[in-house]
Amino acid sequence: MVKERIEALRATLERHNYLYYVENRPEISDFEFDRLLRELQDLEQAHPEWDDPNSPTHRVGSDLTSEFRTVKHRFPMLSLGNTYSLDELKEFIDRIEREEGEVEYVCELKFDGTAISLSYLDGQLERAVTRGDGEQGDDVTANVRTIRSVPLRLQGEGWPKLFEIRGEVLMPYASFDKLNGEREEAGEQPFANPRNAAAGTLKQQASSVVARRGLDCTLYQLAGDEVQQMNHWEALKAARKWGFKVSEHGRLCRSWEEIAAYITEWDERRKTLPFPTDGVVIKVNDAAVRRRLGFTSKAPKWAVAYKFKAEQALTRLNEITFQVGRTGAITPVANLDPVQLAGTTVKRATLHNAEQIALLDIREGDMVYVEKGGEIIPKITAVELKERRADSEPFQYIKVCPECGTPLVRYEGEAKHYCPNQNGCRVQIVGRILHFIRRKAMDIEGLGEETVELLHASGLVGNVADLYDLNAVQLSPLPRLGEKSAENIIRSIRRSVDVPFQRLLFGLGIRFVGETTAKQLAEHFRSLDRLRMATREELLETEEVGEKIADSILEYFAKEENLLIIERLRAAGLRFEAEERKTASDALAGKSFVVSGKFTISRDELKRLIEEHGGRNVAAVSGSVDYLIAGDKMGPEKRKKAEKLGVKMLSEEEFMALISATERAEQRTEEEAQQPEQVKEENPVQGTLF
Ligand code: IVH
Repeated sequence: MVKERIEALRATLERHNYLYYVENRPEISDFEFDRLLRELQDLEQAHPEWDDPNSPTHRVGSDLTSEFRTVKHRFPMLSLGNTYSLDELKEFIDRIEREEGEVEYVCELKFDGTAISLSYLDGQLERAVTRGDGEQGDDVTANVRTIRSVPLRLQGEGWPKLFEIRGEVLMPYASFDKLNGEREEAGEQPFANPRNAAAGTLKQQASSVVARRGLDCTLYQLAGDEVQQMNHWEALKAARKWGFKVSEHGRLCRSWEEIAAYITEWDERRKTLPFPTDGVVIKVNDAAVRRRLGFTSKAPKWAVAYKFKAEQALTRLNEITFQVGRTGAITPVANLDPVQLAGTTVKRATLHNAEQIALLDIREGDMVYVEKGGEIIPKITAVELKERRADSEPFQYIKVCPECGTPLVRYEGEAKHYCPNQNGCRVQIVGRILHFIRRKAMDIEGLGEETVELLHASGLVGNVADLYDLNAVQLSPLPRLGEKSAENIIRSIRRSVDVPFQRLLFGLGIRFVGETTAKQLAEHFRSLDRLRMATREELLETEEVGEKIADSILEYFAKEENLLIIERLRAAGLRFEAEERKTASDALAGKSFVVSGKFTISRDELKRLIEEHGGRNVAAVSGSVDYLIAGDKMGPEKRKKAEKLGVKMLSEEEFMALISATERAEQRTEEEAQQPEQVKEENPVQGTLF
């Protein structure tokens, strides 16, 4: 009885879910839906033996973090050839018609999200895999289950026992704006565009987070032995009947004129869609024609994408203002009359630097074209000279810092102007402190921009080292703080002394030393003192450190005021050393290695492996060295020397084999403990694409 009720509830809920999220015509109220869902939840809780991963109760996701297994696609996920030119598109059509005569095409929107492949076995969602490299992708099934428009069980009949359906996971503009609003409020980096947001969300480890972000999924391509017999238009219709969300905007076209008309129409109409699109995909309809046309190594010859030019908007530039970053870099900003662009309202655009303004001759009061690239901030691409006022004058770039009045400088090879008053310019000081306390650096909580400005204005904090001299009594009288939050802040500051060295290094805010570089430097030099003493040559030996970064590091440590701050941070007990490396095995105990050339992993990573397995790294080949690990493009001199001295040479694979004997043994015992059954990741179905 109970089992039947569970089944009935699942079927009912899925149906209403479909009506709401796919068909957009709900038949019951949200209240009624929630009541049924709760009834199902209660029954499932009482009867865990009847749980089912495809139950609608799992659409809310879970807080458990999941690792994404890499799995092989049953049918490779190819890409599409693409073009921005109608002439090239016409050539594509002409070529097909020369070979095949007149054929039918299906024109579809090109959805701008992240590709997904869904597998259905016996009408049930079996797994969802990202595109990855086209051969294999990440298994993101738990996350995809939370997307309400993805059917967990299919409706109707006639679906093959096993097939895949490909489509796009999208983030509608409304969800995107909401998400970015929340991120900005929380002081987190907003996503640059809905595509990145969709891709980033799919890789979230907690599916409950995915469930809340309002993703959508639209399907456009079937793959599988049986479905490849169907014409595309029929396949789309069938998929719609099985409960998939298939766009209503596709169209069967029979001539070049009809294709061109579809493109013209949608280049305009797409601006009214609630989700992003970036072109039109044109596919041959007939399955037999598709088979005859076949594939190139990367893409089908029966389909192509025509990409729209980025959307532009024309609006007035009212004023050019300037931002001063924590490094003193000046960024000019265009303040615009608000205008709609690619689904969002744009009020500001970046102007990059003085040269850019001069190059386009951008002036205040001009009508300008704004465009959205991959970045979150739109840019100005041109001025509408016809609309320029007769009395307009060329823009004069500022000569002094808008914050502190210090004359600006330009460093060699840099397009930007800088305010050199590092220790007197309020915005730079506050910016450096804010950078230092960031989550990815020292992760000090409770201090927002306003509080840091207050601390600076009241003379309590002039640099990052001052933070560690603060106490709650000093903080609590500040406006909007109070005793409790003052204590919390102090606690968070004290806790931050244990942050790993690489994050402290990032937090110092050395110009051009971002998170990754800080990590590489910490890995390479292992202590702040060794980094400080490093010569330019030694710095350049670090992976990813070029001349620009090396010079910036030297410049940082050459400044007396920075050294003073560093000494005070040391006294406050911050970590100046990288953590001890774990020893994974003693497979290489007593052996010394020279690493030379390029490898599939970074050289530092390789050196770390050597040490983790008890080996020792040495810089140069000599008679006492045991092995030379030879990578790509290793200097011929080293090879000769090694040969002469009889030093054994190893390829990367041979080295890996050397350490993996012990590793494999360790892993096996772990796996055995976790997984009693062997998971098989082979292709159960062999066949060609579509
Ligand atoms: S068909 C073998 N149809 O565009 C062809 N792709 O540039 C499979 N895309 O990876 C793709 N909308 O992520 C197809 N209506 C549509 C599409 C579409 C967006 C994406 C897809 C693909 C990429 C190729």
